[in-house]
Amino acid sequence: MTDQDIRKGLVGVVADVTAISKVNPETNSLLYRGYPVQELAATQPFDAVAYLLWHGELPTDEQLAAQRADGRQYRALAPEVKAAIDQLPLDAHPMDELRTAVSVIGALATAGEDVLEATGTADENIARSLHLFAALPAIVAYGQRRRRGLDPIEPREELTYAENFLWMTFGEDPDPIVVDAFNRSMILYAEHSFNASTFTARVITSTLSDLYSAVVGAIGALKGPLHGGANEAVLHIFDEIGDASNVVPWLDDALANKRKIMGFGHRVYKRGDSRVPTMKAALDTLVEFYDRPDVADLYRTLESEFVSRKGIYPNLDYPSGPAYNLIGFDTLTFTPLFVAARIVGWTAHIIEQQGSNALIRPLSAYDGPDERHVVGYTPDTEAIRLSERPEEAAG
Ligand code: COA
Repeated sequence: MTDQDIRKGLVGVVADVTAISKVNPETNSLLYRGYPVQELAATQPFDAVAYLLWHGELPTDEQLAAQRADGRQYRALAPEVKAAIDQLPLDAHPMDELRTAVSVIGALATAGEDVLEATGTADENIARSLHLFAALPAIVAYGQRRRRGLDPIEPREELTYAENFLWMTFGEDPDPIVVDAFNRSMILYAEHSFNASTFTARVITSTLSDLYSAVVGAIGALKGPLHGGANEAVLHIFDEIGDASNVVPWLDDALANKRKIMGFGHRVYKRGDSRVPTMKAALDTLVEFYDRPDVADLYRTLESEFVSRKGIYPNLDYPSGPAYNLIGFDTLTFTPLFVAARIVGWTAHIIEQQGSNALIRPLSAYDGPDERHVVGYTPDTEAIRLSERPEEAAG
C-alpha cells in the first residue's frame, strides 16, 4: 500500500450511496430528497421536513396530523430521564447531559429485548426516531432551565414543534418572528449527507447495533469543535472580540497564532456553504426584532476581514451561533440545538443503512515497530506455563 492509497480523514472517499440528501459543492446546493433546502426552510414546518427525510415524500395534511398525534406523547420527559439528568453536576456539558439522556431513553425503550430485537424493523425505527425527535427539545429545555435554577416547564400539545421548544425553554409564548427564524435553523441543520456524526451513526448501525446506540455515538462525534461544537465556539469568539472595532487586531493576533476561526471553512464546500444565506437572512430578522445592530456589525466585519485574507467562507455555524444567542439560548446549549435538528438526518441514515447493510470496516496501513519478541519468551515457556496452570489454580 502506498501513501497515495491512504485517504487520511477519508477525504474524497465515496463510502456508499444515499437517497436522503445531496450536497453539491459545485453549485453550492443542498437537496433533501430532491428539494432545495432553501425552499423547504421558506415553506415547511420542521416536522414536515422530518417526515420527508424519514419517508421520502412531504406529508399530506393527514399524514402530518397523524405524525403529530403520535409524537406529542413524547414531548414530556419520563421521570427516569429527569432523574438521570438531575444526578449530573450542574457544570456537566449539555452535550454530555444529552448523550446520557438519550442513552437512558434507549435503555428504557429496549428493556427486555435481546440485541437483535433491539435493532428493530424500519417501521419500529421510524417510531423510535419520532420519539427522540419529540423528546430532545424537552431535554435541551430542561437542561438550560436546570442550570439557570428555574423550574421545568411542561409541554403544550397545541403548539407547533418550534413554538413548544421555545415555550419549554423560556416559559413565554414566542413571537412569530422568533419562531420562524428558529424553525428555519432546525431545517437547515437537519441533514447533511455523510458528515462525521452521521457516518458515526452509520458505522454503529452497520454492526447491527440499535438506533439509540447509534444516536449516542453520533452525539459524541457532534460534540467536537471541528464539527457541531463550532456554533458554540463562534459565540466564544464573538465574546472575545466584543465589538466590530476590535476585529482587525483580534484577527491579526489569532492568525499569527495559527488559530482556526470557528464558523469558517468546510470539508465539502470550498466556495461557500449553501445554507448560510438562508440562515443569515433569519439572523437579520432577529437583529431587527431584538434591535441589535452591533451583532450585525461584528458579524459583517469579521466575515469580510477573514474572507478577504484567507478566501475561506462562513459555514452554517457562523450565522446560527449569534441567532441562538439573540433568542436567549445559553452558548453551551447551541450544539444540543444542532442535535435536536440533526436527529432527523441521523435516524434517516440509520434506517437507510439498515435497509442495505454492509459492515463498515476499513483497512489501515501499519507503521509501528517491526515484529519483535518479549525477552525470555519461547514457545516452550508458554507450553510449560499452560501445563502448570491447573496446579497453580489448585494451590
Ligand atoms: N480558520 C483558519 N484557517 C482555516 C480554517 C479556519 N476556520 N479552515 C481551514 N483553514 C485553513 C487550514 O488551517 C489549512 O491551512 P494550511 O493548508 O495552511 O494548513 C487550510 O485552510 C485547509 O484546511 P483543512 O483543515 O485542511 O480543511 P478541512 O477540509 O480538513 O477542514 C474544517 C474543514 C471544517 C475542519 C475546517 O475548515 C475548520 O476547522 N473550520 C473551523 C471549525 C468549523 O467551523 N467547523 C464547522 C464545520 S461545518
